[in-house]
Amino acid sequence: MTAHDTTTLDRPATDSSALAFFVDEKPALATFLDDAMTGLAASPKRIAPKYFYDERGSELFDKICQTPEYYPTRTELGLLEQHGADIAEAVGPDCLVVEYGAGSSLKIRRLLDALDKPAGYVAVDISRDYLHGQMSGLAGDMPEIAVGAICADFTQGFDLPAETRDLGTRKLGFLPGSTIGNFVPAEAEALLARSTKLLGKGGQFLIGVDLKKPKHILDAAYDDGAGVTAAFNLNLLKRMQSELGAELNESGFSHVAFYNGDQGRVEMHLEAKGPQTIRLEGQTFDFDDGERIHTESSYKYEPQEFADMAKKAGFVPRGLWTDADGLFSLHLLEVAG
Ligand code: TRP
Repeated sequence: MTAHDTTTLDRPATDSSALAFFVDEKPALATFLDDAMTGLAASPKRIAPKYFYDERGSELFDKICQTPEYYPTRTELGLLEQHGADIAEAVGPDCLVVEYGAGSSLKIRRLLDALDKPAGYVAVDISRDYLHGQMSGLAGDMPEIAVGAICADFTQGFDLPAETRDLGTRKLGFLPGSTIGNFVPAEAEALLARSTKLLGKGGQFLIGVDLKKPKHILDAAYDDGAGVTAAFNLNLLKRMQSELGAELNESGFSHVAFYNGDQGRVEMHLEAKGPQTIRLEGQTFDFDDGERIHTESSYKYEPQEFADMAKKAGFVPRGLWTDADGLFSLHLLEVAG
């Protein structure tokens, strides 16, 4: 585990938005540079999707969630609303909720409202300023719950700080938004297996998983008409320019997204319009016309497929909620004991 420090935040003594803690594990920029260099040298070229989420990326992602084509957010919020009482009953009282990749606080608000006397909430996210802003707001609105935040790359693992030790009698992991689908299945299974240690005995995990469905619905969801998803994908190139000093022509690339039914995943790419070159740290990466950088996959799972993966990772399936149109699913898992 990396060393981290707990930041004491400057705030007036009367500030009700006080976070119980803010731990910055300082996910390193060097990693972005290393990963970009390695990914651009690979064939096919690729960059890990976690680099989408600087502050602008997180804001663009919130806008994607509001486009008419992107159904997952609306549908998952609907499931939390409609089945909140059932979920609360299955989860039980007095749990410490740990969210992986917190993003905007919309869904967690709904979950915390539904749960029976939750003891605390810990948000983990890689986007530091965004995380701090969102969670300060939440802490102010829910003073009865201890709210803390950890800026970390949850794919690399993280520790819960001492402040959480006495919060609650069991843990509930929360991974909404089909984020689990952004890992290739073997990595998704490994992430689930690792999480059993943090969640511990009797621990549970509530996970939002996007379902397989007709291609035209998926193609549109990842390529909205207003171009928000395109801007989000292209934001990666902007980050490479501003943070890594890369030389490139952003308008020389376009957003490409489609459902690959054979693989059961949506693929997102940045595609070169004509021959392109990216210069980074004195190295040159050439693109042929039409050559792509694979920036993200979003795997889709039938309920049984996902439950089988969870079992292999050391969980027992405890609950499953889906909408009437069969778009999205919420799985409740418990650490096998
Ligand atoms: N977890 C989201 C998903 O797989 C992430 C996402 C939605 C996304 N739309 C995107 C990532 C567009 C990249 C580009 O649905």
